Amino acid sequence: MGHPLRLGIAGLGTVGVGLINLLRQNQESIEARCGRSMEIVAVSARNRSRDRGIDVSAYEWYDDCAELARNAEIDVFVELIGGEDGPAKAAVEAALASGRHVVTANKALLAYHGTELARSAEAAGVALNFEAAVAGGIPIVKTMRESFAGNRATRIYGILNGTCNYILTCMEQEGADFDVVLKRAQDLGYAEADPTFDIGGFDAAHKLALLTSLAFGTEVDFSSVYVEGIERITAQDIQVAGELGYKIKLLGVAQDTGAGIEQRVHPTLVPAKSPIADVDGVFNAVAVTGDFLGDLMLEGQGAGAGATASSVAADIVDIALGNIQAPLGRPTKHLTPYKPAPMRAHAGGYYVALEVQDRPGAFAGIATRMAEQDISLKSIVQRAPEISVDIDGAKDASVAETRPVVLITHDTLEKSIRKALECIESDGAITSAPRMIRIERL
Ligand code: HSE
Repeated sequence: MGHPLRLGIAGLGTVGVGLINLLRQNQESIEARCGRSMEIVAVSARNRSRDRGIDVSAYEWYDDCAELARNAEIDVFVELIGGEDGPAKAAVEAALASGRHVVTANKALLAYHGTELARSAEAAGVALNFEAAVAGGIPIVKTMRESFAGNRATRIYGILNGTCNYILTCMEQEGADFDVVLKRAQDLGYAEADPTFDIGGFDAAHKLALLTSLAFGTEVDFSSVYVEGIERITAQDIQVAGELGYKIKLLGVAQDTGAGIEQRVHPTLVPAKSPIADVDGVFNAVAVTGDFLGDLMLEGQGAGAGATASSVAADIVDIALGNIQAPLGRPTKHLTPYKPAPMRAHAGGYYVALEVQDRPGAFAGIATRMAEQDISLKSIVQRAPEISVDIDGAKDASVAETRPVVLITHDTLEKSIRKALECIESDGAITSAPRMIRIERL
């Protein structure tokens, strides 16, 4: 066997401990694949005395992860700390400057600094591998860098956040409200105590920014991603969408429109018969269309110790084999600046939910405003009002005076639907702000 590949691991949380367990359990088969042994030399974490359920006393300990990256006798620095700046960034920069290969699961770091870090890796002639940063255990980075290489992409999209997918799946299957399911997801440990990052769509946006670069050969540009979370989706939206042949998923979509590339994360109506509609629970999926390949979809676990460690291990194995690829799939000098397609120019169908006053002419006014913007309606669903009943048995009249109405439009422009909804709101025939959900043609 060749000389051992020496690893330094920074971050001993769920994924770090998962990686150590994986390397211990499958050491023999991994080494047989690589034709060389693999050795964890040094580790670093915030708290040395914490019980992690594994013994790490055999490894050299560093309190400072940047010092580990710079000074430990390692070939590969594995960054499992997280965060776009701070210790993770300092340590990755130190590792690259010291000529060490880097493997990271840190999507935020790469979403903000991906192009610049790829340049540093290139200059040092080392790997910057990040399979675990995008959709956990799904091997989409390697697929895009290598297997997809002969294609030009037209669109890449996916379910990139397991927490959101779990919440939407439970809302659909149980008819439950968002808050109830979110609370359960937190109790089960799927959602963070502060779940904003997941449910607000930002975690998915970090991953999408990386997929966009890999698919379209552009510099990473997280700041241009349009982001909407799932907080305003109601059980009724999911039910009505189901009756109309759709499911609601939080999708990240990057699409070449000809005028630029759209990067958008938002709740989306997808046809119930499309493969991605069947991706439920905490699972993730990524689908890409290539001009020669056609459609490809990969589905798997997007988070968790085992799946994420599996991707980190695959990145380490590539380095052991000497398979060093350009981090973003091509040399950085061949990445083009990202040219955004503005959301106002987005074309597609829309689901619009309105609370309409139950009086003559209210709906006619709404239809007129849509027609003024050249928007053609495909379906109209008017629901029975929710009549709440007081304890003494009396109906609450204020609730009964409005009707929930859902409209599905044919393809139109985002600026047209926004203008129509603005006019409808100022006309005063609806009692709360209109809500719209984009429909993805799949
Ligand atoms: N919190 C993420 C999710 C996993 O729920 O999918 C890590 O990105």
